[in-house]
Amino acid sequence: MPPSSKFAGVDFSELPVEHLTPDTTISGQGFRCLRGEFVTYWRQGRIQREIDARISQCWFLRCEDSLAGYITLLADKLEVDEPILLDEGVQYQSFPAIKIGLLAVDRRAKGAGSRLVEWAVEYVAAEVSPTVGVRFMTVDALYDQDTTPPYDASGFYEKFGFQFADPNESLPLSVPYRTMYLDLKPLIDMLSVEYSD
Ligand SMILES: CC(C)(COP(=O)(O)OP(=O)(O)OC[C@H]1O[C@@H](n2cnc3c(N)ncnc32)[C@H](O)[C@@H]1OP(=O)(O)O)[C@@H](O)C(=O)NCCC(=O)NCCS
Repeated sequence: MPPSSKFAGVDFSELPVEHLTPDTTISGQGFRCLRGEFVTYWRQGRIQREIDARISQCWFLRCEDSLAGYITLLADKLEVDEPILLDEGVQYQSFPAIKIGLLAVDRRAKGAGSRLVEWAVEYVAAEVSPTVGVRFMTVDALYDQDTTPPYDASGFYEKFGFQFADPNESLPLSVPYRTMYLDLKPLIDMLSVEYSD
């Protein structure tokens, strides 16, 4: 019988999301991801360097001493071909946004990805938007056409309501990703009603 996964039976929707700080001690030893480069980003210090440079922040999930997944957030600008807020009297085609920079989970930790994205969406709507005026989240959804079939993360983000910034972008792509965005306004409005009750 194969050994059972260290994440077997874990309900990721209940697991606390922790902020990566200088005091955090978690090595990422044993972290296995569908895409090996995301293991390297953690283990070889890319994430820590970006935090030290103050250009991103990272949150993670752990089960006992094992890393189950991580997500980074940073400031971004959403650019769209059409002015998407015309009916609100806003003519801009670029908007402030918070970007999901890196997102990866252990391949045995199914559901950890949803937990991290749902947490991030609520965090930005509840904690960031009321103080700095940001209504969109963005992500460059990984699209690797060098694998068969191509590796495409966009379907994962579509499940949370993310849309393509350029819906007419055609394959093959000139870059290994497609930019997507999520409009947080319905959630921001809902949360502000809840807080005012
Ligand atoms: C993408 C990733 C974070 C998803 O995490 P996960 O924990 O496996 O995702 P979940 O189990 O929470 O999946 C939620 C749903 O999305 C679906 N899903 C996951 N990856 C998908 C994909 N690439 N395309 C379409 N749907 C996908 C799941 O089947 C599940 O569907 P269901 O709700 O109908 O069952 C994970 O596969 C990963 O780490 N991939 C490698 C790194 C990567 O691609 N990061 C994103 C870069 S932009």
